[in-house]
Amino acid sequence: MKTLTTALLLTLLCSSALAGPGEDRQKSFKKVLLSFEPVGVMLRDGPFRKDQFIKHADALKAAAPAPFLLFKPGTIDDVSRAKPEIWSQPARFKAEQDKFISAVNALQAGAQSDDLAAVRNKYAAVAASCKSCHDSFRGPKR
Ligand code: HEC
Repeated sequence: MKTLTTALLLTLLCSSALAGPGEDRQKSFKKVLLSFEPVGVMLRDGPFRKDQFIKHADALKAAAPAPFLLFKPGTIDDVSRAKPEIWSQPARFKAEQDKFISAVNALQAGAQSDDLAAVRNKYAAVAASCKSCHDSFRGPKR
Protein backbone atom coordinates (compact mmCIF):
# COMPACT_ATOMS: atom_id res chain seq x y z
CA MET A 1 0.00 0.00 0.00
CA LYS A 2 2.78 2.32 0.99
CA THR A 3 4.78 1.61 -2.21
CA LEU A 4 1.65 2.15 -4.24
CA THR A 5 1.11 5.56 -2.69
CA THR A 6 4.75 6.51 -3.26
CA ALA A 7 4.54 5.38 -6.88
CA LEU A 8 1.40 7.40 -7.38
CA LEU A 9 2.95 10.45 -5.79
CA LEU A 10 6.03 10.13 -7.99
CA THR A 11 3.88 9.87 -11.11
CA LEU A 12 1.95 12.97 -10.10
CA LEU A 13 5.14 14.88 -9.38
CA CYS A 14 6.71 13.86 -12.66
CA SER A 15 3.70 14.69 -14.79
CA SER A 16 3.35 18.12 -13.23
CA ALA A 17 7.06 18.71 -13.77
CA LEU A 18 6.66 17.82 -17.45
CA ALA A 19 3.66 20.04 -18.02
CA GLY A 20 5.37 23.34 -17.38
CA PRO A 21 3.88 26.83 -17.38
CA GLY A 22 4.35 27.29 -21.14
CA GLU A 23 2.36 24.17 -21.92
CA ASP A 24 -0.29 25.04 -19.33
CA ARG A 25 -0.81 28.46 -20.92
CA GLN A 26 -0.93 27.03 -24.43
CA LYS A 27 -3.55 24.48 -23.32
CA SER A 28 -5.59 27.22 -21.76
CA PHE A 29 -5.42 29.36 -24.92
CA LYS A 30 -6.36 26.31 -27.00
CA LYS A 31 -9.51 26.07 -24.92
CA VAL A 32 -10.26 29.67 -25.84
CA LEU A 33 -9.70 28.79 -29.50
CA LEU A 34 -12.06 25.82 -29.20
CA SER A 35 -15.05 28.12 -28.77
CA PHE A 36 -13.71 31.04 -30.80
CA GLU A 37 -13.16 29.00 -33.96
CA PRO A 38 -16.73 27.65 -34.39
CA VAL A 39 -18.07 31.16 -33.83
CA GLY A 40 -15.93 32.38 -36.75
CA VAL A 41 -16.83 29.45 -38.99
CA MET A 42 -20.55 30.07 -38.43
CA LEU A 43 -20.23 33.75 -39.27
CA ARG A 44 -18.05 33.19 -42.33
CA ASP A 45 -19.39 30.01 -43.88
CA GLY A 46 -22.67 29.39 -42.07
CA PRO A 47 -25.07 27.85 -41.43
CA PHE A 48 -25.81 30.30 -38.64
CA ARG A 49 -27.50 28.43 -35.80
CA LYS A 50 -28.34 30.96 -33.14
CA ASP A 51 -28.69 28.46 -30.27
CA GLN A 52 -25.26 26.97 -31.08
CA PHE A 53 -23.75 30.39 -31.57
CA ILE A 54 -24.91 31.50 -28.11
CA LYS A 55 -23.46 28.34 -26.55
CA HIS A 56 -20.05 28.95 -28.13
CA ALA A 57 -20.11 32.63 -27.17
CA ASP A 58 -20.93 31.68 -23.56
CA ALA A 59 -18.09 29.13 -23.53
CA LEU A 60 -15.73 31.73 -24.99
CA LYS A 61 -16.60 34.20 -22.25
CA ALA A 62 -16.05 31.52 -19.61
CA ALA A 63 -12.68 30.43 -21.03
CA ALA A 64 -11.27 33.86 -21.90
CA PRO A 65 -9.84 35.00 -18.53
CA ALA A 66 -8.18 31.67 -17.63
CA PRO A 67 -4.86 31.92 -19.54
CA PHE A 68 -4.04 35.25 -17.91
CA LEU A 69 -3.90 33.69 -14.46
CA LEU A 70 -0.93 31.63 -15.65
CA PHE A 71 1.59 34.37 -16.43
CA LYS A 72 3.73 34.22 -13.29
CA PRO A 73 7.10 35.98 -13.63
CA GLY A 74 10.02 33.75 -14.60
CA THR A 75 7.91 31.20 -16.48
CA ILE A 76 9.42 31.27 -19.96
CA ASP A 77 10.35 27.62 -20.39
CA ASP A 78 11.55 25.74 -23.46
CA VAL A 79 8.11 25.43 -25.03
CA SER A 80 6.77 28.86 -24.10
CA ARG A 81 6.27 31.51 -26.76
CA ALA A 82 5.77 34.23 -24.15
CA LYS A 83 7.98 37.29 -24.71
CA PRO A 84 9.84 38.95 -21.84
CA GLU A 85 7.92 42.19 -22.62
CA ILE A 86 4.91 40.61 -20.85
CA TRP A 87 6.72 41.23 -17.58
CA SER A 88 8.83 44.27 -18.53
CA GLN A 89 5.78 46.18 -19.88
CA PRO A 90 3.00 44.93 -17.59
CA ALA A 91 0.69 47.92 -18.21
CA ARG A 92 0.73 47.34 -21.97
CA PHE A 93 0.10 43.62 -21.50
CA LYS A 94 -2.76 44.35 -19.10
CA ALA A 95 -4.27 46.81 -21.60
CA GLU A 96 -4.24 44.09 -24.30
CA GLN A 97 -5.96 41.71 -21.88
CA ASP A 98 -8.62 44.27 -20.96
CA LYS A 99 -9.31 45.06 -24.61
CA PHE A 100 -9.66 41.33 -25.33
CA ILE A 101 -11.96 40.62 -22.36
CA SER A 102 -14.27 43.54 -23.17
CA ALA A 103 -14.41 42.50 -26.84
CA VAL A 104 -15.34 38.94 -25.78
CA ASN A 105 -17.97 40.24 -23.37
CA ALA A 106 -19.47 42.46 -26.07
CA LEU A 107 -19.63 39.52 -28.50
CA GLN A 108 -21.31 37.31 -25.91
CA ALA A 109 -23.74 40.06 -24.91
CA GLY A 110 -24.65 40.62 -28.58
CA ALA A 111 -24.96 36.93 -29.48
CA GLN A 112 -28.78 37.08 -29.19
CA SER A 113 -28.99 39.75 -31.85
CA ASP A 114 -30.49 39.12 -35.30
CA ASP A 115 -28.29 41.84 -36.75
CA LEU A 116 -25.57 39.59 -38.16
CA ALA A 117 -23.54 42.51 -39.48
CA ALA A 118 -23.26 43.85 -35.93
CA VAL A 119 -22.32 40.40 -34.61
CA ARG A 120 -19.64 40.11 -37.30
CA ASN A 121 -18.17 43.42 -36.21
CA LYS A 122 -18.01 42.22 -32.62
CA TYR A 123 -16.33 39.01 -33.76
CA ALA A 124 -13.83 41.03 -35.78
CA ALA A 125 -12.99 43.13 -32.71
CA VAL A 126 -12.15 39.95 -30.76
CA ALA A 127 -10.02 38.58 -33.61
CA ALA A 128 -8.17 41.90 -33.83
CA SER A 129 -7.43 41.81 -30.11
CA CYS A 130 -5.99 38.25 -30.35
CA LYS A 131 -3.75 39.42 -33.17
CA SER A 132 -2.73 42.65 -31.53
CA CYS A 133 -1.56 40.88 -28.37
CA HIS A 134 0.17 38.10 -30.31
CA ASP A 135 2.02 40.66 -32.45
CA SER A 136 3.45 42.33 -29.36
CA PHE A 137 3.73 39.58 -26.80
CA ARG A 138 3.93 36.16 -28.48
CA GLY A 139 7.18 35.04 -30.02
CA PRO A 140 7.74 32.66 -32.93
CA LYS A 141 6.83 28.96 -32.79
CA ARG A 142 9.48 26.77 -31.18
C1 HEC B 1 -3.26 39.72 -23.95
C2 HEC B 1 -2.53 38.82 -24.82
C3 HEC B 1 -3.20 37.73 -25.61
C4 HEC B 1 -4.47 37.70 -26.12
C5 HEC B 1 -5.56 38.75 -26.02
C6 HEC B 1 -4.61 36.43 -26.79
N1 HEC B 1 -3.45 35.72 -26.70
FE1 HEC B 1 -3.12 33.88 -27.49
N2 HEC B 1 -1.31 33.84 -26.58
C7 HEC B 1 -0.70 34.89 -25.94
C8 HEC B 1 0.63 34.50 -25.51
C9 HEC B 1 1.63 35.37 -24.77
C10 HEC B 1 0.80 33.15 -25.89
C11 HEC B 1 2.03 32.27 -25.66
C12 HEC B 1 1.95 31.55 -24.30
C13 HEC B 1 3.14 30.67 -24.03
O1 HEC B 1 3.56 29.93 -24.96
O2 HEC B 1 3.67 30.70 -22.91
C14 HEC B 1 -0.45 32.76 -26.57
C15 HEC B 1 -0.70 31.50 -27.06
C16 HEC B 1 -1.83 31.13 -27.77
C17 HEC B 1 -2.09 29.80 -28.27
C18 HEC B 1 -1.24 28.56 -28.00
C19 HEC B 1 -0.65 27.95 -29.20
C20 HEC B 1 0.59 28.64 -29.68
O3 HEC B 1 1.15 28.16 -30.68
O4 HEC B 1 1.05 29.64 -29.11
C21 HEC B 1 -3.27 29.86 -28.94
C22 HEC B 1 -4.01 28.72 -29.66
C23 HEC B 1 -3.76 31.22 -28.83
N3 HEC B 1 -2.87 31.97 -28.11
C24 HEC B 1 -4.95 31.67 -29.38
C25 HEC B 1 -5.53 32.90 -29.07
C26 HEC B 1 -6.82 33.33 -29.55
C27 HEC B 1 -7.70 32.53 -30.51
C28 HEC B 1 -7.05 34.54 -28.99
C29 HEC B 1 -8.27 35.40 -29.15
C30 HEC B 1 -9.58 34.78 -29.14
C31 HEC B 1 -5.89 34.87 -28.17
N4 HEC B 1 -4.99 33.86 -28.26
C32 HEC B 1 -5.77 36.04 -27.44
C33 HEC B 1 -1.25 36.12 -25.73
C34 HEC B 1 -2.56 36.48 -26.00
